[in-house]
Amino acid sequence: MKTYKAAVIGLSHISQARSPSPLSLPSVDPMPRSHVAAYAGHPRVTLVGACDLMPAAIDRFNATWRDVHPATRMYTDYREMLDKEKPDIVSVITPDDRHADIVVNVANAGVAGIWCEKPIATTLADADRMIEAVERNGTAMTVSHTRRWMPLYHKARELVRDKTYGELKVLTATMYYARAMLFRNGTHIFDMLCFLADARPEWLIAELEDGFDGFDRYRGDGGNEISSEPSANAYIKFANGVRANLMMQKSNNLTNVIEMVFENGVARIVGDGQIIINRVDGGPSTSTRSAISIAQTLGHEDWVADRELGILSEIVHALDTGTKPMLSPPRAARQTLSILLAILESHAKGNARVTIDAGPASIAS
Ligand SMILES: NC(=O)c1ccc[n+]([C@@H]2O[C@H](COP(=O)([O-])OP(=O)(O)OC[C@H]3O[C@@H](n4cnc5c(N)ncnc54)[C@H](O)[C@@H]3O)[C@@H](O)[C@H]2O)c1
Repeated sequence: MKTYKAAVIGLSHISQARSPSPLSLPSVDPMPRSHVAAYAGHPRVTLVGACDLMPAAIDRFNATWRDVHPATRMYTDYREMLDKEKPDIVSVITPDDRHADIVVNVANAGVAGIWCEKPIATTLADADRMIEAVERNGTAMTVSHTRRWMPLYHKARELVRDKTYGELKVLTATMYYARAMLFRNGTHIFDMLCFLADARPEWLIAELEDGFDGFDRYRGDGGNEISSEPSANAYIKFANGVRANLMMQKSNNLTNVIEMVFENGVARIVGDGQIIINRVDGGPSTSTRSAISIAQTLGHEDWVADRELGILSEIVHALDTGTKPMLSPPRAARQTLSILLAILESHAKGNARVTIDAGPASIAS
């Protein structure tokens, strides 16, 4: 089987955190998971290069990963790294406003696969030039909206597609975290609402957290500081008639719940670990737990491969087969970004109804 050379640009926590568990077990949940851990866990990918502007980040890599990635060469200039290492796959893990130039340059350099962190960019213009570059170069690019690789969410979407309980009518989501920030973490849940609604978002009305009235542009500085970004509440209409809302609240809880209201039942996805279904036809209520949630209960958190290792596996599959990753393509990530930006616009216009620039019709979810 073909093997692939990989490189990472940006060496922060999500890039290079290492789980204390044995490395023979793919580290997937709970955190820390990371790009470098996924490269360690995939038998057909070798991490040949890693790059950061900051010496301290490079020192952290050397202190944390040398036993596992002994031959990885370190760089402070990613163009030099691309030139010397000629990687097949590149991770882009820089702050959000620095994804675009790097992705365009990596695609133009002829790299076959790109694994870009979320949100894809901070403006639609940036997202569009990234999409143009990867489509022109035939690059297999995917964006780290990680729940798209969790089997539990695919099970939930099957309920929509199979109409098991009739048509989906409403999605109600809540996100109560200390770090319930619109772009930093909200992007994951808004992306999931698109995935589950299985249709284009058409319009929304929204408001931002109190005290953020002047927040009309996201600078994309990485979101490390909670007060740098608001939470938001939004109501979205999808093209297939589904209505969705998300209530975000910065609080000392750690829960996200998505309730899916069908004609003949309600499915509740709780904390990424469980789907609880209540039927209205008298049939038994059921509960499905994800493999990860079962593993956590048993105290074996690290055995199930999804999220980061799943993302890498999909890129490898795309390179093996000459196809493109399907689960989180750049056009779907652009659609999610267009929701986040429409939320800012709605708030700035006094909670007005705003049409969502959802891009081409070919991206349904
Ligand atoms: N998928 C997830 O759940 C998840 C979690 C955390 C962060 N993220 C995303 O990861 C990305 C990074 O976020 P962060 O908070 O870790 O950022 P950060 O600001 O803490 O770190 C980014 C790193 O990139 C480096 N960098 C910036 N420009 C560079 C360049 N041109 N070449 C090489 N290195 C460069 C910086 O020196 C820094 O070390 C963001 O897009 C963020 O949204 C995703």
